[in-house]
Amino acid sequence: MKTVNSYNFAGKRALVRVDFNVPLNERFEITDDTRIKATIPTITKILNDGGSVILMSHLGRPKDGPTDKYSLKHLVTPLSVVFGRPVKFADDCIGQSAIEQASALQGGEILLLENLRFYKEEEKGNVEFAEKLSKLGDVWVNDAFGTAHRAHASTAVVGQFFEDRVSGFVMQAEIENAQRILEHAERPFTAIMGGSKVSDKILLIEKLLDKVDNLIIGGGMTYTFTLAEGGKIGKSISEPDKVELAKELLKKAAEKGIKIYMPVDNLCADKFSNDANRQVVATGEIPDGWEGLDIGPESAKLFKTVIESSKTVLWNGPMGVFEFPNFANGTNAIADAVVTATEENGAFSLIGGGDSASAVNNAGYGDRVSYVSTGGGALLEYMEGKTLPGVAALM
Ligand code: 3PG
Ligand code: MG
Repeated sequence: MKTVNSYNFAGKRALVRVDFNVPLNERFEITDDTRIKATIPTITKILNDGGSVILMSHLGRPKDGPTDKYSLKHLVTPLSVVFGRPVKFADDCIGQSAIEQASALQGGEILLLENLRFYKEEEKGNVEFAEKLSKLGDVWVNDAFGTAHRAHASTAVVGQFFEDRVSGFVMQAEIENAQRILEHAERPFTAIMGGSKVSDKILLIEKLLDKVDNLIIGGGMTYTFTLAEGGKIGKSISEPDKVELAKELLKKAAEKGIKIYMPVDNLCADKFSNDANRQVVATGEIPDGWEGLDIGPESAKLFKTVIESSKTVLWNGPMGVFEFPNFANGTNAIADAVVTATEENGAFSLIGGGDSASAVNNAGYGDRVSYVSTGGGALLEYMEGKTLPGVAALM
């Protein structure tokens, strides 16, 4: 695989696929710029070589072509600040005007293309569309790890039109860190799995059963496991059709001698709202009309002890509805413990994408853990052992 470091971009126009699918608030301000900041090393290397950069990305999941809400124009000003130079904008990602803007670029300049998903051909992996995109650059760089699990035109198809396909620094770092966890984990190795659905994480949990010493289960998926153990969950979120599977996972873990830690108590609410009435209830005893929205304080203590004595920590998925401040304590306690393990026990800690990454970044801990992944689904699929189309396209 060619890498950014080993490639001289002088005089070249680099067509760079990035994952700038970032969260925006109602004023179109970026609320988590991790994915943008992550691309600084790649973009800077190209510009410092004397190359120019054409950035292409999707934003959201637009259904009916161009929509103001999903326009990448909202990113022009923040990107100009991040890269310390004016970023130009092409309001159509293909076509004559984009071609002219791309060919007019001088070394050191950046052009951002409008949302690729304004064309349905992008998600279809359409070859003609990919060829049109390829007209814009001399070399293709893929730094969009977060979208590498999608076989889309800009991630998996466009590469065939280039002699030079180059893997960016984000792509490399993500793969190296995931490999380190999967192949060279120092023990004890603790995986913390959270999030609302066990169905999203089954394959990864199964894979991890061959690797970890401790498996901590928290978040919404807990209640499916509580059902598996015959407990009462009130109106907590659950997947009744996955109860048998949860039982099997617990059995397999026991057979392999893995220690499973599940919440011993839950912070429950009488409605799904930050200002619901609250009570802490022992696991398996949630009354009718109540739902668990966070792990309880005893669970947080228990999990903390396990995490802080680990040498490798993988965390994927929050412990509760941390978007509600009243139900964020469990998730924040885990973030604290992961930082302590990293700083005081020398652990290698990887935060796996999506909500847990936001939780860590919002707590200001982004720099105090070993690595925060920019991938949600992509990281899960990579760790499950799948070949990611966006990675395969670089070969
Ligand atoms: C993500 O945020 O998961 C990636 O940017 C991919 O987006 P998608 O899930 O809409 O394909
Ligand atoms: Mg996704």
